[in-house]
Amino acid sequence: MPNQSATINVMIQAARKAAKSLLKDFAEVENLQASTKSPGDFVSKADLRAEKIIRYELEKARPYYGWVGEESEETIGKDPTRRWIVDPLDGTSNFLHGIPHWAISIALEHKNEITTGVIYDPIRDECFFAEKGNGAWLNDKRLRVSGRTQMIEMLFSTGIPFANKSGLSLTLKEIESIMPKCSGLRRDGSAALDLAYVASGRFDGYWERGLNSWDIAAGIIIVKESGGIISSLKKGENPISNGSILAASGKVFEEFSNLIMT
Ligand code: IPD
Ligand code: CA
Ligand code: CA
Repeated sequence: MPNQSATINVMIQAARKAAKSLLKDFAEVENLQASTKSPGDFVSKADLRAEKIIRYELEKARPYYGWVGEESEETIGKDPTRRWIVDPLDGTSNFLHGIPHWAISIALEHKNEITTGVIYDPIRDECFFAEKGNGAWLNDKRLRVSGRTQMIEMLFSTGIPFANKSGLSLTLKEIESIMPKCSGLRRDGSAALDLAYVASGRFDGYWERGLNSWDIAAGIIIVKESGGIISSLKKGENPISNGSILAASGKVFEEFSNLIMT
């Protein structure tokens, strides 16, 4: 069993409380098509409710920390070295379409480094979490990135830019270069779970650009503590500040990043 800190317990508690509210809303999603409510409005209310719950719980326990969340203004804390980075619902499109693949992502950053992360998938009751130096866990099981060594046996994941997002042709080029060399690619619609799945060895690698800090903050520490490697798609930069990320096991990092980052 993991030796969990008080901080991580607070984060998991907050995620579980928000999950209850999201699960209630998710159960209502299927009635939406028949109703007059706008689906966009509905989901942004679900988001907001979940973020309020998380913020209340975290601020009650750690009143001096700063806050960055998808649904509210950034706040600098009395302790300016620490901030929460939160996505109350990652995988909004899945949620809205009734697809049970979405998660809550909560991270703590200290002096510009992510030190603690929780990604909770309420549908499967899978809680991925990690703290710097303490390993990464899925519920009570220790996580390790994939041990596969042959790229042709590996499964990758990415995000394909949609609507007015930029970078579509670049991503399509990258997909074209990786597809013949691997055993498959997924576009599952939750960056947080993509990273959690790299950490647990379900995926061998993941890349995406055009992301926000809250999509990836918790996943970064969970992958690192599972023995994986994290990089920005621009060498030497911080994925949290430029929103591009590549994550992989050490076994494939070089080959994979050479394909994607050229
Ligand atoms: C999105 C998901 C998706 C990624 C998008 C994100 P949201 O977050 O993580 O997988 O491709 O870029 O914006 O909007 O569902 O919180
Ligand atoms: Ca997100
Ligand atoms: Ca979100």
